[in-house]
Amino acid sequence: MKVFAANWKMNNAPADAAAFMRAFMDRYTRRQDRRVLFFPSDLSVHVVVSAVKERPDLEVGVQNIHWEDKGAFTGETSAPIARQAGARHALIGHSERRHVFGETDEETGLKVAAAARSGLTPMICVGETLEQREAGATIDVVARQLRAAVEKVEPSVIASAMLAYEPVWAIGTGRTATPADASEVHVALRAELRAICGERGAAVPILYGGSVNKSNVQALLSAEQIGGVLVGGASLEVDQWMAIVRAIPTEMP
Ligand code: PGA
Repeated sequence: MKVFAANWKMNNAPADAAAFMRAFMDRYTRRQDRRVLFFPSDLSVHVVVSAVKERPDLEVGVQNIHWEDKGAFTGETSAPIARQAGARHALIGHSERRHVFGETDEETGLKVAAAARSGLTPMICVGETLEQREAGATIDVVARQLRAAVEKVEPSVIASAMLAYEPVWAIGTGRTATPADASEVHVALRAELRAICGERGAAVPILYGGSVNKSNVQALLSAEQIGGVLVGGASLEVDQWMAIVRAIPTEMP
């Protein structure tokens, strides 16, 4: 089973999201070997949730949550609010949250716990900066980020979570990690997952993200331990997104 996730970031207002979903759903029919997830901006979540009501193969999540369930946190969205609005997933620790908004490893851990309390599946995002890659620290950095993100929850939460490896230098830059480079990190993350939750760690999907497009998706999906893709820019155009979600890896595991 491969996972195709669209991270729309701060794009697609409600009317645009509705038009996108109409155009996409007219053309995309269910396939048993894949799941398709949408992460719209908060105010467009309800539009996408109602669009996919009759389509269990299409799922919706939010791009971020606060770690508290409610309270005086102006401008924030809590996991219970996201859940009641129909979201089933939450991106946690996306690199833009970490690097633009200063989110810390500790906060990602609190957010994963908040997602779990409310029945949202966390998609934990990890990734190194160019400087860290050049210093040979990639595996240490992503392992540290993963450990911190799961610190406050039981291993069973992680067994039903998802992971996304997104090298910071590849996001929105047009530079993609080669399938072999990405795969090396995925293999290391798989080993970490097994250390955290035993055999159940073998089934947690690990997605790759960072300048994925219709030309490189097949090679990425065919690489060892790459269980799907998290796509930003290329998920905003229906044609390109259609081509991505229809990609067939050379060998489906
Ligand atoms: P990109 O973004 O595909 O535009 O590089 C990916 C992401 O940030 O999730």
